Amino acid sequence: MIREPGVLLGWRVTPVQFPPLMDMPQSQLKARIESNAAVIGVIGLGYVGLPLLAAFHRAGFKVVGFDVDQKKIDALHKGESYLKHLGADLVSNMKRGDGAKRFDATADFARLAECDAIISCVPTPLGHHLEPDLSYVEATADDIARTLRKGQLVVLESTTYPRTTREIMLPRFEARGLKCGVDFFLAYSPEREDPGRKDHNTQSIPKLVGGIDAVSGELATAMYRKAIKQVIPVSNAEVAEAAKLLENIYRAVNIALVNEMKMVLDAMGIDVWEVIRAASTKPFGFQAFYPGPGLGGHCIPIDPFYLTWKAREVGLPTRFIELAGEVNRAMPEYVVQRITLAMNNHGKAMKGSKILALGLAYKPDVDDVRESPSFEIIEKLEHLGAQVDYHDPHVPATHKMRHYDLQMRSIELSPASLKSYDCIVVATHHSAYDWQMIADNAKLIVDTRNAMREVRGKREHIVPA
Ligand SMILES: NC(=O)c1ccc[n+]([C@@H]2O[C@H](COP(=O)([O-])OP(=O)(O)OC[C@H]3O[C@@H](n4cnc5c(N)ncnc54)[C@H](O)[C@@H]3O)[C@@H](O)[C@H]2O)c1
Repeated sequence: MIREPGVLLGWRVTPVQFPPLMDMPQSQLKARIESNAAVIGVIGLGYVGLPLLAAFHRAGFKVVGFDVDQKKIDALHKGESYLKHLGADLVSNMKRGDGAKRFDATADFARLAECDAIISCVPTPLGHHLEPDLSYVEATADDIARTLRKGQLVVLESTTYPRTTREIMLPRFEARGLKCGVDFFLAYSPEREDPGRKDHNTQSIPKLVGGIDAVSGELATAMYRKAIKQVIPVSNAEVAEAAKLLENIYRAVNIALVNEMKMVLDAMGIDVWEVIRAASTKPFGFQAFYPGPGLGGHCIPIDPFYLTWKAREVGLPTRFIELAGEVNRAMPEYVVQRITLAMNNHGKAMKGSKILALGLAYKPDVDDVRESPSFEIIEKLEHLGAQVDYHDPHVPATHKMRHYDLQMRSIELSPASLKSYDCIVVATHHSAYDWQMIADNAKLIVDTRNAMREVRGKREHIVPA
């Protein structure tokens, strides 16, 4: 007997009504990503967000950049890049020809509703007591929540402690009555950008992706695969959050180790730079890290303390992180002591002296001055009675920052100006510097970066620090 479908042994079974697969938010979003029809929104158009926006534009997507800084939005509309190290073409390329139709930037966050995927790249600094300041992440999550709709994918890229995505973002979105993994999707993918690096860029740096649930992870992975060469899915958002912290803690701890080695070897009259070169000849088991005047930038001095704070929740100390922080934070003071000693040996008191700091950016060939140790060194020298100027080819003038407002302008660098200072402090080894010219014209040089290694002729006036 041929039975009518749904009729079994005399019982009428009502078939469960599943929505057709293609109607589900997940399938629709997947299809929009695969066909490049998805609109990608990036919030926070700084060192991380701007190149990411460009990467998705280059991959063929329509992109909308969001930022609270109207000056950045205006610059982008004019086709201008405000981040020099990325090259002038980065923005103008997005505005060229047909591509211009796929590019927009705005401070109007109601337009987040237009986006299929929203990636948040806002700052995650520390508060005055080294506690995480998640106010930017929270503000952005509130902005996204206001217009969150079915079928949207949200990804957090800001560096932060494990469970931020789940504890800070997810509840704000679910409060809208939508379900994660079904109605909307949420993931974490750390940014591993290293501004100024020439051998890697946003597309070539492998990308970790972890979802709040499996579906969110899959959708975020599919999206990044469109713009980034290698995407590595991990089990969940927490693994991705913790992996980023491990990477930065590893750097902070190793830099502290080599800074400590420098101080010890300096006291023994041994050249730490030659020691590192020698150790680096080992083909395995050693990775070179280099000493300096202290940590800088938005990552290494800050991110480790996000874990320290969160670790208190499970009652565990993070001794390596604290010790590394202690050593690294003491470096500007160590440099000031070396300068004082070097000047003393040259018969010069600090009070009333003229000192020039070379390099205000925290690392070579960028204009990023965030957390740069040069600021602390300048302030400490001024406190001791020195008159301090700076030169930096990438930083024509200082601007107000969270902790400093030096109100200084970069001086003109010339043989005559160099001769007018009692001491030159090399804080950043920008490749634009002519070290031989500097060595030939300076009375005294305190070098924190081994920048003077190739200099020929007299070297008695060069002091490592
Ligand atoms: N700079 C790096 O090299 C780097 C590398 C890896 C990870 N990160 C992480 O990426 C995140 C962003 O860092 P960044 O260096 O790009 O910072 P940034 O300061 O260069 O850029 C952040 C941008 O966010 C904007 N912004 C601030 N509040 C906002 C808000 N409520 N809504 C919209 N926009 C807002 C700012 O105006 C700014 O343009 C941080 O968590 C950082 O730790 C940075």
